[in-house]
Amino acid sequence: MTKPTVVLTRRLPESVELAAAERFDIRVNADDHRFTVAEMQEALRAADGIICTLGDPLKEALKGGPWRAKILANFGAGTDHIDLAAAKAAGIAVTNTPGALTEATADLAMALILMTTRRLGEGERELRAGEWTGWRPTHLLGSSLQGKTLGIIGFGRIGQATARRAHFGFGMKISYSSRSSRAELDQELRTKNLSLDDLLATSDVVSLHTPATPETIGMLDARRIALMKRGSYLINTARGSVVDEPALIAALKSGHLAGAGLDVYPREPEITPELLELPNVVALPHLGSATLETRTAMGMRAVENLSAFFAGKALLDPVT
Ligand code: DGY
Repeated sequence: MTKPTVVLTRRLPESVELAAAERFDIRVNADDHRFTVAEMQEALRAADGIICTLGDPLKEALKGGPWRAKILANFGAGTDHIDLAAAKAAGIAVTNTPGALTEATADLAMALILMTTRRLGEGERELRAGEWTGWRPTHLLGSSLQGKTLGIIGFGRIGQATARRAHFGFGMKISYSSRSSRAELDQELRTKNLSLDDLLATSDVVSLHTPATPETIGMLDARRIALMKRGSYLINTARGSVVDEPALIAALKSGHLAGAGLDVYPREPEITPELLELPNVVALPHLGSATLETRTAMGMRAVENLSAFFAGKALLDPVT
């Protein structure tokens, strides 16, 4: 029986590529470059299915058609780079890998909270520049986490995993803002669901864990940033488009916000140069899920979604 043809838009961990090659006739992007719209459309024309990732131009590319590809198995949870309506109209199923990256992303959110509140980026830059003059009691004083409030926006899997780390590991109080309340977690984490404005006004650290949707894009605008406590911190491991970047930069410059820990940006991989000039910004290159174990689990899940599709079975992680 001929195997379905599957394009991998980016290189994947070796064990994932091997597993995919056993089941499908795979086409690999050998030099791991970012696909152009034309290359993406070529893949949609030539393959039965595609393992795609964030950064693929699947909003623009899907505008053409008709396409041979009938499934996009997204490697990752966020699907804001895909025109879901256009995929549906073209009869293309979309899946993602939501369960695979929870712990790694929550680890990274916690790492950014620590890096930002303890000024670790500043310290490392100072030392590497040969500017450290030695220990002194007032050197690079940060802010303690114990007893402070972490406000989590978007209380899904990653938001909850971040809350557990911060509460049980670092003694932080937790509040969250979410469409639905979670009674069992309210008890476990001694927390409650607040309106977004109330959460912003009462949190020492605010961490974003919401997908980019028409409702959340630009959600943290100048008015809402102004509501944040003076001297508080913003952490973003979700999507850059959720935050009004010029308003964030202004708040960091004025000292209204004490710092920001960012893993995501509105126009990746482009970074607004002004952000990098601010000492109170920790900027990472979208590393939330970047462990070998996690990226392997994400890839295997994408392969399983493809296998289910080609076997005519129910999809494991359909995106609707
Ligand atoms: C996702 O899954 O969307 C993440 O941003 C990848 O790390």
